[in-house]
Amino acid sequence: MATKPLNICLVSSEFASLAKTGGLGDVSSALSSYLHSAGHDVRVLIPRYSRIDALGLEIDPVPALADMSVRLGNREVHFSIDRLTLESGLPVYLVRCPEFYGRDAIYTNDDDEHLRFALLSRAALEMCQRFGFAPDIMSCHDWQTSLIPLYLKSIYSWDELFSNTKSVLTIHNIGYQGQFGSWIMDHLSLNGAEHHLHQDDFKSGVINFLKTGVMYADLVTTVSPTYAREILGEDYGMGLNDLLWQRVDSVVGILNGVDYGEWDPATDPLIPANYSPKDMSGKRVCKERLMQEMGLEIVPERPLLGIVTRLAGQKGIELVDQVIPRILDCRDCAIVVLGSGEERYEHFFEWLSQRFPGRAAFYRGYNNDLAHWIEAGSDVFLMPSLYEPSGLNQMYSMKYGTVPVVRETGGLADSVDQIDPATGDGTGVVFRHYDAPGFEWAVSTALNYYANKDLWQKVIANGMAKDFSWDEQGSRYVELFDELRGAA
Ligand code: ADP
Ligand code: GLC
Repeated sequence: MATKPLNICLVSSEFASLAKTGGLGDVSSALSSYLHSAGHDVRVLIPRYSRIDALGLEIDPVPALADMSVRLGNREVHFSIDRLTLESGLPVYLVRCPEFYGRDAIYTNDDDEHLRFALLSRAALEMCQRFGFAPDIMSCHDWQTSLIPLYLKSIYSWDELFSNTKSVLTIHNIGYQGQFGSWIMDHLSLNGAEHHLHQDDFKSGVINFLKTGVMYADLVTTVSPTYAREILGEDYGMGLNDLLWQRVDSVVGILNGVDYGEWDPATDPLIPANYSPKDMSGKRVCKERLMQEMGLEIVPERPLLGIVTRLAGQKGIELVDQVIPRILDCRDCAIVVLGSGEERYEHFFEWLSQRFPGRAAFYRGYNNDLAHWIEAGSDVFLMPSLYEPSGLNQMYSMKYGTVPVVRETGGLADSVDQIDPATGDGTGVVFRHYDAPGFEWAVSTALNYYANKDLWQKVIANGMAKDFSWDEQGSRYVELFDELRGAA
């Protein structure tokens, strides 16, 4: 426990219920809510994307944070910061700069992408200054906020407000580094501190935001202990492994938690029927409704496989491509998939649903309600990820009595225990090697176990009894933050 409340400024490009493309949104929202409920003074800052306006929420301008500006290269960028107060009382501040954030997508390939997130990072520090808020911790998430540690140690180092501020960079996914051509250098307004950028990169014409964060953050955390070890090696480190090794004592893995306020089948308002370990009848209702809604044949006894994911290389969709058509050919099962992303994967799932009408269904897009329906209505949840820093869906699945099939990597390895059919222990089927035979074994094994009703019920009960709540994981962040404050 922290001895006295911490001042924390948490800066992120996503925040669930307001702007989310994946787990980063869930985590920045749940972590900041945990920290707030634990009594710390938490100020969250995110961009005011146009999709947030479409939600029709009560967002108020903050007079002290109106008409602000920063220089980014040769331009003066004007912005204001608005405030939204969540039911819990947690303040979420939003950078209003329509020029940068008034676009359909959260992330873009536009020429000024680096400016959009350099602004977010600068705005966070400017907000603290205007408030006279001295953060003990600047909590930064992924490449979009990775310039904050360098800004603190360079162009804001004159300000005593920050003299005890420590920066913590949480890496949610090392596969996205925010790498730009070195021509953007002037835009970052480092005012003489350019030599702090990675010089070899710079000479080869590159500026890498995440790498800069790894170099200057006082502490680097990532979202599971196994991933913290994996990224120290070449296979998973994506070019940052050597740098991470150099500061291995400052790299810590904390598994993500689950916001059970949002993800609990006993209370989830989004699913067709609620259920709990004591009375599982609602799960059958959820399965039938899901089959119906997705145009699958309604065969309640038929095992239903579910997938909810960004359709990116990381997620192991090539294994799904190699294995699932064969499984559907020779086993009596069905599959429902929700996702969007790379076209080749979208095309594959479209093909799959045409090839197996009534037994394979695909919804292309982002749909939070359907994500909940699939967690509740499926029997087995597939996550054959090539890498998975933490993963949340496998933890949601366990809570929803849906047995995960996962590859032994990152947070999947840290959260799913191999089923032992002899004892009935375990929560899912885990395969080691990233290849089609491994995944095929795992799916077939899950289907075999499904046919053994006693075993299946036991495994479901094991999963539903697991507790991945933020009370546990969040307190680890507090301990680390408190240690850093002590060191200040
Ligand atoms: P990642 O952050 O790599 O995408 P996670 O498992 O940590 O993976 O988190 C994914 C989150 O995004 C989950 O809350 C999941 O339900 C949600 N999600 C992913 N794809 C979709 C989609 N197409 N529609 C709705 N929710 C989605
Ligand atoms: C990422 C990772 C995922 C993790 C999420 C939240 O995008 O891919 O594994 O759960 O961030 O930390």
